Amino acid sequence: MKLQNKVALITGGTSGIGLEAAKLFLAEGAKVAVIGTNSARLEAAAHALGGDALVLSADLRNPADIDRAIGDVAATFGRIDIVFANAGAGTAAPLEEVTPEMISEQFALNFTGLFLTIQKAAPLIPKGGSIVATTSFLNTVGTPGLSILSATKAATRSLVRSLAAELAPRGIRVNAVSPGPIATPFHTKLGLPDSLLSETAAAIEAQVPLKRFGEAAEIAKAALFLASDDSSFTTGAEFVVDGGLSQV
Ligand SMILES: NC(=O)c1ccc[n+]([C@@H]2O[C@H](COP(=O)([O-])OP(=O)(O)OC[C@H]3O[C@@H](n4cnc5c(N)ncnc54)[C@H](OP(=O)(O)O)[C@@H]3O)[C@@H](O)[C@H]2O)c1
Repeated sequence: MKLQNKVALITGGTSGIGLEAAKLFLAEGAKVAVIGTNSARLEAAAHALGGDALVLSADLRNPADIDRAIGDVAATFGRIDIVFANAGAGTAAPLEEVTPEMISEQFALNFTGLFLTIQKAAPLIPKGGSIVATTSFLNTVGTPGLSILSATKAATRSLVRSLAAELAPRGIRVNAVSPGPIATPFHTKLGLPDSLLSETAAAIEAQVPLKRFGEAAEIAKAALFLASDDSSFTTGAEFVVDGGLSQV
């Protein structure tokens, strides 16, 4: 078992990539806490993960919620060895339709919420700890309609380098996992009509060298590598898992 006796906090652990990571980390011996907002998904995750997992409702756009959730993890487990800062969402809109609210909302969750989660968790992370942030292939490619989502992920990529430098003296590693298009509910939340969504999905699939969407479990395995001592000499890096989309 790769995470025996480790405590892992997974944001966005109630759906998609985060939920698969929570299952895998539990199977690898970790004590797991997950964060989400939607009550039906929180309940389903509690059922899927079993009684030993701590399932927390917290809106990461709200700093007070982050404080409370980290406090709950500290009270339950006493420390946090692994932070998988993975929660994220996006709204698709062309240049002329992007509003200041859309910009604030997406940065509030994907960047500020992620930053504050790491900041509040950091005092509880011992030497040997590992922080993994979920970025995206959108870091390195330009996609019409996804300018703000992409920018939040580029900011997160940069943050990973800075925090890796800041936390290295404490023996804490900070890395990113960068998914390509992955089959999760994420896409249905972009605000695109269903017809455009399936058209876009087909076009993306055609562009991916491996000719398919990835599975959430494939990202979870990459997150496990970065979370565990298997990657003990890796920090500041971004592990790209995108079927070759941004690399080939
Ligand atoms: N799927 C892809 O193709 C893809 C590609 C590249 C990168 N990514 C990144 O991968 C990460 C995980 O996405 P996914 O594909 O697994 O999507 P998902 O299935 O929609 O999961 C998103 C998770 O984030 C949580 N979340 C959303 N808003 C939140 C908030 N305000 N506060 C706390 N938690 C919140 C959701 O919980 P609730 O629903 O309960 O709020 C859910 O658990 C995201 O950062 C995303 O940008 C995904």
